Amino acid sequence: MKRIDGKAIATQIKNDIKTEVAALIDNEQPAPHLAAVIVGEDPASQTYISSKDKACKEVGITSSIYRYPANLSEEELLEVVDFLNNDDDVSGFIVQLPLPEHIDANKVIQRISPEKDVDGFHPQNMGKLVMGLPSLLPATPYGIMLLLEKYKIETSGKHCVVLGRSNIVGTPVSLLMSRKASPGDATVTICHSRTKNLKEICLQADILIAAIGQPNFVTADMVKEGAVVIDVGIHRIPDEKAEKGYHITGDVDFENVSKKTSFITPVPGGVGAMTIAALLLNTMKAFKKDF
Ligand code: GUN
Repeated sequence: MKRIDGKAIATQIKNDIKTEVAALIDNEQPAPHLAAVIVGEDPASQTYISSKDKACKEVGITSSIYRYPANLSEEELLEVVDFLNNDDDVSGFIVQLPLPEHIDANKVIQRISPEKDVDGFHPQNMGKLVMGLPSLLPATPYGIMLLLEKYKIETSGKHCVVLGRSNIVGTPVSLLMSRKASPGDATVTICHSRTKNLKEICLQADILIAAIGQPNFVTADMVKEGAVVIDVGIHRIPDEKAEKGYHITGDVDFENVSKKTSFITPVPGGVGAMTIAALLLNTMKAFKKDF
């Protein structure tokens, strides 16, 4: 079993970005600027936003956070999006999901200027992804593709099973895996809550991408010997013995599944670290208008 070290690859990517930003500043150009909007107090969202802020500071990208209480109206949030769309100093921005229930997330996403949509969620960017045109890619799928590339994992002709069909991970990663590209060229099956014979399908996977949102959902009896397993889940499990009162686990029962895999991503230190690195890459692309 080889552990895919997302943290190490993310560090390499961040070092390259740091060098590029330093060169911009030496040439008296402005630093790229990533803004994030967060509405409400969702703890996972708070963690993601502070990781993003820290990563920006490490590489010299300007970071700003727009925090609003959960009772912000949809109209007020759309005004914030308009403001960021029109602020020439902002290279790109994200609106953290999930949003409170009274706000229509799709309406907000559609209001973001596609050129500043570093999450790659706008229908224009999603449409380009479907067509195989260059675009800003959603950060988690982009990070997964970078990991497969860096570890030279063969994907062509392989059977890739994706668990989960969200717009954030499952749907875009399945499109990227089936694209005529490298990594890509895989035969892809998407599974979801209505899938029958889930275990049998998972057992056929050469590459299994778990983005189902349930802790330790993928067990060893669902995984073929020698498979590649990519774990997208991040869950806080209450744990009295842990210093913080919780430990982090993924969608995969790492301890037992890892005994059967050729490659596997750990949680933490796998896909999560790459998501932030991919977001920074997208910010550089938006800054350079190069995508
Ligand atoms: N919530 C969970 N993942 C993401 C993400 O990649 N982007 C945003 N904006 N919200 C999220």
